[in-house]
Amino acid sequence: MEVKVAPADLDLSDATLVVGVLEGLQPAPGSEADFAHADPVLMEAAGFEGKAKQTLAVPHPEAKTMLLVGLGSEVDFESVRAAAGNAVRAARTERVVTRLAAIGIDGASRAVTEGSLLGGYEFRTYKTNGPKVKVTFVEVPDADEAELEAAARVSRSVIQARDWVNTPAVDLSPSQLAEQMSAVLGDAGIEVEVWDEDRIAEEKLGALLGVAAGSARPPRLVKATYRPEGAKKHVALVGKGITFDSGGLSIKSANFMEDMKVDMSGAAIVVAAAEAIASLGIPVAVTVVAPLTDNAVGGNATRPGDVLRPVKGPTIEVLNTDAEGRLILADGLGVASMEDPDLMIDVATLTGAMHVALGDRVAGYFASDPEAGELIRTASSRAGEPFWEMPLVHEYRKSLDSNVADIKNVSGGRYGGAITAALFLHEYADGRPWVHMDIAGPAFSKETYGDVVKGGTGVGVRTLVEVARTLAGE
Ligand code: BES
Ligand code: ZN
Ligand code: ZN
Repeated sequence: MEVKVAPADLDLSDATLVVGVLEGLQPAPGSEADFAHADPVLMEAAGFEGKAKQTLAVPHPEAKTMLLVGLGSEVDFESVRAAAGNAVRAARTERVVTRLAAIGIDGASRAVTEGSLLGGYEFRTYKTNGPKVKVTFVEVPDADEAELEAAARVSRSVIQARDWVNTPAVDLSPSQLAEQMSAVLGDAGIEVEVWDEDRIAEEKLGALLGVAAGSARPPRLVKATYRPEGAKKHVALVGKGITFDSGGLSIKSANFMEDMKVDMSGAAIVVAAAEAIASLGIPVAVTVVAPLTDNAVGGNATRPGDVLRPVKGPTIEVLNTDAEGRLILADGLGVASMEDPDLMIDVATLTGAMHVALGDRVAGYFASDPEAGELIRTASSRAGEPFWEMPLVHEYRKSLDSNVADIKNVSGGRYGGAITAALFLHEYADGRPWVHMDIAGPAFSKETYGDVVKGGTGVGVRTLVEVARTLAGE
């Protein structure tokens, strides 16, 4: 399915009319007249109560059909967005006219647009059966047009990130991904460089080279600079781009390896966010750094006990080659810091420990100082993305002391693995305000719900766009 969202059209004759319903069968504000056509006997027989996730098609005198969508107990940004996503998947007509934007909350048009475009997302590139494209046109009377357009712009970037994450690693080598990223950033008017393996060696990115050593596919580093007029702040976005994480010589077991094409999500998200920020013309300077490589097991692979030299900061004893994300990010942060940003944010599917701590739906973040932490807290809440602040427990830093190098890449202990990973990265933040987002849990979803569809989610793109808006004073 492909979804297009546009403001208004009042002709209902061949359309599905979407009407929100609260638990207890209360019509959502703005839908009272339409809801009056819903037969209580039908709703009861179908077990429809207005609960979140429920949908029911019923007759309507003007529309082809009326689709009731449950909002649960509250009308808020997230319940409306989820209902829009559930509705677009349940609708059976080409045209959908939604009443959800008339619901009378701030951001209703954005919620409807994101829910429809992202909830209707499908990745069909490798499917040979079924329709290649079924377009659903979602029409939104009462839309705030500027808000709808901006939300559609951001949603397209989220979809770009999802497409990259969902593409099998065989078809997305570091060089292929770099090429695609360079095209996307270039189209958004951002200046881009792609460093190949020779340039990466010249620049002395020894940690990235160490991770890449085990793969037949050479590494790349995407570096982009967006410098709009009037920008007062400069943020560097650094994304983990492991195009496949086998674990390296510290190899993963089969069940942990299954979804490891997901491991370039951080890179996909920072590039997609920069695309959205530039396309929206947000006046904030952005540097993007995305180190891209496989973590593979070839004859030249880095061994446990080897020492790597990143471009800046402590030398690293690699004791576990599966803790590779922090290695390439050490170089990524090093390259980013040379651009003198006011704030650095890295995004990574970094640790299974974070997934264990916060589960499938919530990402964690760590901040070097309270101001940076507050920025992410408000941005993620404005974006409606689930981020939870985690503590940088400095007392744990000594568990990373190495006998032969300045630092080792794993603590060796079982506990607090997301925190020790963050403390490792902090060493490469150059003393600048810095945030680390560990999206290992929610980067990939096993379920479809609301605006989230099975597979890569693109979580973080919308929060980074809100960070840019906040830094620009919007
Ligand atoms: N890419 C993984 C983390 C991951 C786990 C991402 C689950 C998405 C879902 C990362 O490179 C990794 O393997 N981390 C190790 C670190 C350990 C060796 C200290 C882990 O979490 O097990
Ligand atoms: Zn790993
Ligand atoms: Zn990894």
